[in-house]
Amino acid sequence: MKKTQEKPEWLEARNLKTREDLWLKLDKDIFAGKCSLTEHTIDGVRVLRLGVSPAIDRDPPLSFAVTETEMDGFDQPGEFKETDLPLNLFFKQIAEDHFRIGFDLPEKSQCFALGERLSDVNLRGRRHTLFNYSDNLHIPSLDTMYVSIPFLVVADLHRSQYHGILLDSPAWQSWSLDEELNDRGVVDLLSRRGWTIYMMEADCLPDLIASYTALTGRSKIPPDWALGHHQSRWSYPDQETLLAVGKKMRESEIPCDCLVLDIDYMDEYRVFTHSKERFPDFKQVVDELDSLGLKTTCILDPGVKKEEKFSVYADGKKRDFFVRRGDQRPFLGKVWPGPSVFPDFLRHDVRVWWSAQHGFFVDNNIAGVWNDMNEPCLIDSPCPMPPQSKELPPEDKQMFMQALPEGKVGHYEVRNLYGFQMARASFEGLLALRPDERPFVLTRSGYAGVQRYSAVWLGDNMSWWEHLALSIPMLINMGLSGVPFTGVDVGGFGDNCSAELLTRWYELGIFYPFFRNHSSMLGVVQEPWVFGDKTEARIRHLVGMRYRLLPYIKRLFFEHARNGAPLIRPLFWSYPDDQEVYDIDDQFLFGDDIMVAPVTKRGHRSRVVYFPRGKWIPLEGGAVIEGGRYLRVELELGTVPAFARVGSIIPTVPVIQSTREYQQAPVIFKCFGDGIGLFIEDDGISFEYENDGYNEWLLTVLDGKPKVECVNYGYIAPERKYYLDLNGEVTELRLQSPT
Ligand code: GLC
Repeated sequence: MKKTQEKPEWLEARNLKTREDLWLKLDKDIFAGKCSLTEHTIDGVRVLRLGVSPAIDRDPPLSFAVTETEMDGFDQPGEFKETDLPLNLFFKQIAEDHFRIGFDLPEKSQCFALGERLSDVNLRGRRHTLFNYSDNLHIPSLDTMYVSIPFLVVADLHRSQYHGILLDSPAWQSWSLDEELNDRGVVDLLSRRGWTIYMMEADCLPDLIASYTALTGRSKIPPDWALGHHQSRWSYPDQETLLAVGKKMRESEIPCDCLVLDIDYMDEYRVFTHSKERFPDFKQVVDELDSLGLKTTCILDPGVKKEEKFSVYADGKKRDFFVRRGDQRPFLGKVWPGPSVFPDFLRHDVRVWWSAQHGFFVDNNIAGVWNDMNEPCLIDSPCPMPPQSKELPPEDKQMFMQALPEGKVGHYEVRNLYGFQMARASFEGLLALRPDERPFVLTRSGYAGVQRYSAVWLGDNMSWWEHLALSIPMLINMGLSGVPFTGVDVGGFGDNCSAELLTRWYELGIFYPFFRNHSSMLGVVQEPWVFGDKTEARIRHLVGMRYRLLPYIKRLFFEHARNGAPLIRPLFWSYPDDQEVYDIDDQFLFGDDIMVAPVTKRGHRSRVVYFPRGKWIPLEGGAVIEGGRYLRVELELGTVPAFARVGSIIPTVPVIQSTREYQQAPVIFKCFGDGIGLFIEDDGISFEYENDGYNEWLLTVLDGKPKVECVNYGYIAPERKYYLDLNGEVTELRLQSPT
């Protein structure tokens, strides 16, 4: 008799509507490990923590994202019940190296955050693979980016309920957010180590982000100079060129605070060296620029040139600080210096050693360090685990091994931490060497919590109009992922910039928290003066506005330090009950009081702007605009595309050439009608602000009459004058210190 055949799986699969069904019905759950659910209240928000370990005798892995103080706050583990979890979150282990986590995405909800995403603000409807990788062709299908922050915000469309999910695992993971249009989110996580998920729920977005940033830490307030205009190029090839750029900035009166040295300052790309031929007077040149009010920062890549006579290589090798492959042979990868070795930044002793090398920068008066290629990126090498990956190679086949306190681990399990830990080493190095100064570190790669150590720029964009527009949603999502100090290369990195594009990019770039013009050697130069006098004058005017807004920008960083708010905010941050703003991602709020709506299309001289309720006034002056409607606004080249909220008081200074002049610059409170506004001053460089070493004034204007209250007085400021600008009428104001 013929045996009845069991239906093959694929036949059954044909009858299932979606991949989600397939998973639910067919995938077995082999989980036999340990999980625990704990709870903690952070900044008034209840946070649930679910720790999952695939082995019964092991705890979930250590967290790098969550700060130690918050880690201690969680209760003793309680009994785990899946029904307790928000969004019906549950998980399965479907293979020894593969976890799946599923959760509801209510029909009318939108998804945000997840770090650096080449996407509109709403991330729903596609897959997002988090595995740090450098691909310099930022086209819409690009999925793996330089920075992975596994924190998702799910917001209902009525904006009364916000969920946050932090999947704290630095391993490869792919988030499918309702790809199947079945109102589900599914994360595939390829890891053998386990993971921890933090879930929080709040009834407004600011509260949710406050608790997320309390959990993963907030940025220090950047030193004043780092908030200025940075000028960069790959590369300024020699000291004469660098000096000439600095002098030209001063001659052309384009405010600037920092010049940047890309890889060619080094001696054949050896880290912590400078070329003796092209930069023979390295420190003198840096000092000379400093005397012009210009700081210098340097790039630093993780790859160390493999060369016995190179001391950093020889020393690191002797101490066994470089990563090794599974078979114990040293791992070699090709980067700028040719075959190179890579420090294991997961190790504390390695970080201390790397930090100590920063003495090279400090001795040469280099003000800050730019960490690049730290995914790590190897030249001509494809993504080691592309978005379609289905399984995790055995530990010893994962490029190289790294060391965690609990033992050796394959690189892919912790890859998303590589750049984060490198940035941490730079931050801790600069802090140890200059304990009285807030370090400035810029990184390309990162993980949740990177804001504690570094600013982030979004890598190799192009001089394309599309990339100008895309910077807005990308930076909004970075801010909602807890990282406030961000920007993209103004003018675009790759390809050739043009006069019009550069002008439009400055119009927007002056509102990037991190504001740097940078370009690749493969494209035309794009310093502010290269496109002729007209363009130069426009850029001078625009950068001037950045400098005028410095006190406001500082205030926004204080706000971030207090409640985690990003500087670049979606409109729904402040107007959650206005359905009109949900899908707007070509405008944003720069703090509460300024709305930016730039032109991002070639040839356009006006655009339609949505004005939320209330009243608005063009930042550069003009008629009051009634909110709650769309309006076509003329925006000629060189116009600041921003509007102040009526009811705000924005502290400004006159245009200065460098933040070196900031402390003495008079402060002008621009009042947009009757209103209220804060002004905070500190020394702009030390950590004293963390010990009350700042002054905070609350200014109120009612019926045109000002009232000043001193909220905090902890800093003896150099003498400066204060003025009130009420509809163009300027009067002196006294800010009296309490006696
Ligand atoms: C990378 C960086 C870019 C830099 C270049 C050379 O592509 O992203 O900013 O200029 O390397 O160092």
